[in-house]
Amino acid sequence: MRRTTGYAPGRINLIGEHTDYNDGLVMPVALRLGVTVETGSRDDGIAHLTTEAPISPSEASYELGIERRDGTWVDRARGVTSILARDRVDIGGFDAVIRSDLPLGAGLGSSAAFAIALLRSLSELFDRPLDDTAIVRIAHAAETEFAGARAGLLDQLASVFGRPSEALLIDMRDQAMRTIPVPPTVELAVIDSGTRHEHATGGYNRRREECEDACRHLGIASLRDLDERPLDTILERLPPPLDRRVRHVVSENARVRDAVVALGARDDARLGELLSASHRSLRDDYAVSTPELDRLVELAGAAGSFGARMVGGGFGGSIIALTRRGAAKDIAFRVLEGYGGGRLVAIVP
Ligand code: GLA
Repeated sequence: MRRTTGYAPGRINLIGEHTDYNDGLVMPVALRLGVTVETGSRDDGIAHLTTEAPISPSEASYELGIERRDGTWVDRARGVTSILARDRVDIGGFDAVIRSDLPLGAGLGSSAAFAIALLRSLSELFDRPLDDTAIVRIAHAAETEFAGARAGLLDQLASVFGRPSEALLIDMRDQAMRTIPVPPTVELAVIDSGTRHEHATGGYNRRREECEDACRHLGIASLRDLDERPLDTILERLPPPLDRRVRHVVSENARVRDAVVALGARDDARLGELLSASHRSLRDDYAVSTPELDRLVELAGAAGSFGARMVGGGFGGSIIALTRRGAAKDIAFRVLEGYGGGRLVAIVP
């Protein structure tokens, strides 16, 4: 029997959080960790999935064409096959074995990586070539239209176009991309708090609605339209908490621009300050952090990092801490000791 393998990496995001669905700026770096999906065809129209990853259920099957959501990770596979059917990309039944060295649900883009790895494997198995743009679009539709998490495009673009040693500056308004090397003087510790998020039922969709509400109040199409306007007078026109949500998004875009300058100037201390400012904004204005993530960030500061922040959607997951090159491991272990749990997932680059 024919078998094929697809792989896709996870990501961190240096800075630019909760800006992607607001037509803003993001700066992801791909991880050297990811999801691998091996598929083999079967002739009964059934999708049968098994995983060795520590996630429930470890096995599932469904009939192609009868994809019903059940709120588990299997929805990402159901999303992929139902969107493929909608797009008239013909596939048959298959067995899929899923492996991951990327922690799942840790804010590191595992959902997108799974969908993309599955798409790559299936497209080869059934000889239905898909280009990178189609892969991004289908994986994103599987997440938003099928699984019901109204996520932006950050994770899919980062997984498909990101590189492990470079930050990818993406302007979500037109998806223009530019790579920026991670300076040789710094590295990033990626630390998993061990607490998990659930975007679809959690606050993620709520934040997105709040941004849309704010746009309606202000009569604009997207929060990106506020970039050149005086923020104070705009915030006065918004009821709480919309004013704070908007302040996060607008100030985060400005921090991404400042980070580009800091990276160019090799100003590591400034870059660290921007990361920490991003965290405070996500914690106080956007309200997507947790006590565990705040604690990790605080410990990273005390341990001598340049700066640290939560990464990804929030409500659990991971932090990144910017350190001098060669110092991330030591700093991470001091952080983990103080925290009493958690895990050093990776050192970037
Ligand atoms: C999740 C979503 C992304 C993005 C981030 C926050 O990872 O999938 O689209 O919104 O949260 O920046």
